[in-house]
Amino acid sequence: MEPLRSTSWIMMSLMLCTMQPAQAAPVGNKTKVILVSMDGFRHDYLTFVNNTPNFDRMLQEGVTMPWIRNTFTTLTFPCHFTMVTGLYEESHGIIANNMYDEDMSPRYFGMGTTVDEWWTGHETIWTSAQKAGLKAGVYFWVGSASKIEGVRPEKWFRYNGSIPFEERVDTLVKWMSEDDFDLGLIYFNEPDHTAHTNGPRGKKTLHEIERMDGILGRLLDKLTETNLLDKVNLIVTSDHGMAETDSDTKLIDLRDYVNSTLVKNVVQQGALAHLIPQPGKTQDLVDALKDVEHMRVLVKEDNTPERLHYKDHSRIQPVVLLADEGWTISENGTWRRLNMVRFLGDHGYDNILNSMRPIFVARGPAFKQNAVVESIDTVDIYPLMCHLLNIEPAPNNGSLQRAATLLRVPPRTPQPINSPTTPQPINCLSDWSTRPEVCSYLLGALFLLNRLIKYSIVL
Ligand SMILES: *[C@@H]1O[C@H](CO)[C@@H](O)[C@H](O)[C@H]1NC(C)=O
Ligand SMILES: *[C@@H]1O[C@H](CO)[C@@H](O)[C@H](O)[C@H]1NC(C)=O
Ligand SMILES: *[C@@H]1O[C@H](CO)[C@@H](O)[C@H](O)[C@H]1NC(C)=O
Ligand SMILES: *[C@@H]1O[C@H](CO)[C@@H](O)[C@H](O)[C@H]1NC(C)=O
Ligand SMILES: *[C@@H]1O[C@H](CO)[C@@H](O)[C@H](O)[C@H]1NC(C)=O
Ligand SMILES: [Zn+2]
Repeated sequence: MEPLRSTSWIMMSLMLCTMQPAQAAPVGNKTKVILVSMDGFRHDYLTFVNNTPNFDRMLQEGVTMPWIRNTFTTLTFPCHFTMVTGLYEESHGIIANNMYDEDMSPRYFGMGTTVDEWWTGHETIWTSAQKAGLKAGVYFWVGSASKIEGVRPEKWFRYNGSIPFEERVDTLVKWMSEDDFDLGLIYFNEPDHTAHTNGPRGKKTLHEIERMDGILGRLLDKLTETNLLDKVNLIVTSDHGMAETDSDTKLIDLRDYVNSTLVKNVVQQGALAHLIPQPGKTQDLVDALKDVEHMRVLVKEDNTPERLHYKDHSRIQPVVLLADEGWTISENGTWRRLNMVRFLGDHGYDNILNSMRPIFVARGPAFKQNAVVESIDTVDIYPLMCHLLNIEPAPNNGSLQRAATLLRVPPRTPQPINSPTTPQPINCLSDWSTRPEVCSYLLGALFLLNRLIKYSIVL
């Protein structure tokens, strides 16, 4: 072990005299990033209405795509968590709005569950940013009220849907300007809410789309007032689209096919249902449901299509039911009609459906202007934001190469971290390298360093 001990001090001196981070910190111009989500903003909503001057401005001054490809299932919690982690739902574990997990306490998860353990295990963009010494504020986002990897955003609030949108915008811009935050996230629970009860083409929904355009206008105005507009890379997107439904007439009532002898519990229901079978009854349950019209039975390890990336997690129950577009699954139709509002719009369906696809527009110094590019995936947003903030992304399922189509200046082709490189002559240590045994230690140390540290060696 003698050689190892002697290499360690050489490694230390090497690090001091020859190492530089692969991505040098930006000099002078600090870029800021704002990510906006308008819940349920379908990719084609702007064609449903006439009066959206602020979105029109974003399109002219920024970059867009036909839609952004979101993940399955197209529900609010999973899709939002994908945007900030770059992970498929099966990999970040928020696989529905309502979940069951025997290893958690409590075992049931609802949209109000903030217990850290349900969320942790993966870096979010604000975790990554704060770990790198940047400042992040989140005015509502799925997961932001929990400690994830031990980290909460520097500014955050417990969710309250009644907080006026204007107040959210003003507070966010204050963080970005007065507090000089690098990253800001903001969430609006519209036009989703209105479209559920009125349908995606309902009059009130159309009005809501125009109202959200006004909220975007307020954000652009506030950024202009604070001199930030041309320093901020602003991304406006959404979690999913919205399909026409009628939960009264297009209802699949599970009581018509199964009862409690086969089903232990229904964890999630609506466009998608998660069923926990009674012990040993999975096959009987599948047999009882496989011919039911207007839905598909997805048996986790068996017939779940690969493209959904929706099986590799224990919280995905053994039997998942996926309704055809426009249909609603309920464990008790009578109860639903009595206790829940009638839905004329819904989501959670297959992510290849046109109606499920969200909008994406971006504007700022890094983005192309007046450009329409090929669609990217919502898993690409996390590595894109990491690139814009000049920080190291955590392992994810996205692709910066794919997202690069949005950028004015393409990112430098990243060096594969683990590829062995041929050691070059070492200038700053030239007098040492005349001694052969030091030189061989140095080469060994270089090789080790190359494998151990995520830096490239700049000589
Ligand atoms: C900083 O921004 C100015 C104006 O936007 C630009 O001309 C300059 O090239 C930028 N410098 C760097 C280092 O990015
Ligand atoms: C939510 O916000 C509204 C509007 O500001 C306020 O009246 C209400 O008390 C808040 N609710 C909670 C639980 O904080
Ligand atoms: C459930 O359905 C089975 C088969 O249709 C029937 O024999 C049984 O009595 C039902 N059990 C309950 C609790 O309704
Ligand atoms: C379904 O809901 C109705 C209305 O709440 C209730 O009376 C009935 O017992 C429920 N049926 C089952 C099987 O839970
Ligand atoms: C997604 O990324 C995670 C984390 O790196 C990885 O474990 C998983 O295998 C990836 N999924 C796919 C389908 O590549
Ligand atoms: Zn949503």
